[in-house]
Amino acid sequence: MNQDLLTICYLIGSITFIIGLKMLSNPASARKGNLLAAAGMTIAILGTIFLYQDVETGYLNNYAWIFGGLVIGAIIGTLAAKKVKMTAMPEMVSLFNGMGGACAALISIVEFNHLSKELISNPNPLFIPHEQPTVFIIVVGLIIGSVSFAGSMIAWGKLNGKVKDFSFKGQNILNLLVLALAILSAVYLVMNPLQHNLLYVILVLSLIYGIFFVMPIGGADMPVVISLLNSFTGVAAACGGFLYNNKVMLTGGILVGAAGTLLTILMCKAMNRSLKNVLIGSFGGNAKTSSTGPVSQGLYKEISLSDTAMIMSYASKVMIVPGYGLAVAQAQHACHELEKILTEKGVEVKYAIHPVAGRMPGHMNVLLAEADVSYDNLLEMEKANDEFPTTDVVFILGANDVVNPAAKNDPTSPIYGMPILDVELAKTIVVNKRSMKPGYAGIENELFFKPKTSMLFGDAKKVLQDLCAEIKSV
Ligand code: TAP
Repeated sequence: MNQDLLTICYLIGSITFIIGLKMLSNPASARKGNLLAAAGMTIAILGTIFLYQDVETGYLNNYAWIFGGLVIGAIIGTLAAKKVKMTAMPEMVSLFNGMGGACAALISIVEFNHLSKELISNPNPLFIPHEQPTVFIIVVGLIIGSVSFAGSMIAWGKLNGKVKDFSFKGQNILNLLVLALAILSAVYLVMNPLQHNLLYVILVLSLIYGIFFVMPIGGADMPVVISLLNSFTGVAAACGGFLYNNKVMLTGGILVGAAGTLLTILMCKAMNRSLKNVLIGSFGGNAKTSSTGPVSQGLYKEISLSDTAMIMSYASKVMIVPGYGLAVAQAQHACHELEKILTEKGVEVKYAIHPVAGRMPGHMNVLLAEADVSYDNLLEMEKANDEFPTTDVVFILGANDVVNPAAKNDPTSPIYGMPILDVELAKTIVVNKRSMKPGYAGIENELFFKPKTSMLFGDAKKVLQDLCAEIKSV
């Protein structure tokens, strides 16, 4: 009876994961989708704790350990999620993903030790071949989980600036050698499960590979790497599902693996780069830190607040291009205020959203949703590019790389090939940022020197607040 109840709990868990994931694809339903999947996960966890029955040992009875861990984890997770700034979200995702990888690796170690004891104590010669598929699943989970853990920790360190890019000649070859050694050791262990110390050799090799794999990848590519490592963690968790014959773990792991892979492909597509180029291209790493000095492309012109207020008030259509600087300044509410004031004056206001604007997938959507900006006014890149020719004023707020024409016309540029917002098709461009410093890719932006572009310097929030006051008085 309890086992049937447990199966129902797992079914509910699996269904809520799938529906929740589907709901995440729309900003309007994303929050509810997240809650739904979390509720399903809670049911699956509680079901396992209270209903699972082992053939030999019966019900779980180590409740103090289980709930001790649950309470500590829940407190740390809640505090971290409440405290984290939106701009530091990729770091947190990376850290949590690393914990998932570590869990999968620990499951493999614990289960191998159980199995090892059984293999040693069982005199039946047929027992070893019978258990070899289990050893295979264990080592696959160990390798993928450890790579994901070590890689995610390095990605976390890189995103918060504690770990610098590091690469040397021949590193890719060394990486492949370390991975090959880990795989060969794993094959040997599957053939000879009694060589149990080899498990720790595989663990160490996989950790080294995880570190070396992420170390040379450029800073700007970290979100792609995190998404890839996220898919690894999903596969490692699915191995746990096989191991325990646990269907909800298997479904969850496969969903994470598939979603992570799809997101990785989508991000690469948005930057027009191949995964290979991301993994060995070192984009946005050293370049980022080495070229933050003044730019040298000639003269740019500045515009005053009152002139900006004037051209916006008399425009028919204004397109706002939000970028990372808007998030840093936390200017989303002031931005929505500007939209409302202009709309009251009869100006059509829309937002052009580049898929990799900001520092995480969907960053601008989340930011603007926080300020209650209507989703109907957010245009995806292709749609926005169609509308620029009929736009009077493009107002760029803390965006840089996503409007850099070098992506289209400079084959030597590190962002060459990345689709950009074609803001130059509009009549007038006003750029708000604090200085002439480059954006994330660390490169100059010729757009700022074009005749139709004017610079409006200052912190995005302050500029927007002053601009709103100015427009009200026009
Ligand atoms: P960026 O190219 O990074 O440019 C942001 C600009 O905001 C900077 O030039 C900065 O100039 C300005 N800024 C900073 N603080 C500001 C403030 N308080 N007020 C006003 N302006 C401020 O941003 P983007 O155009 O959004 O492009 C995103 C970049 O990040 C792309 O290269 C993308 O590939 C990369 N990336 C994206 C992701 C994802 S998935 N979204 C993840 C990682 C990296 P000043 O310093 O002069 O103010």
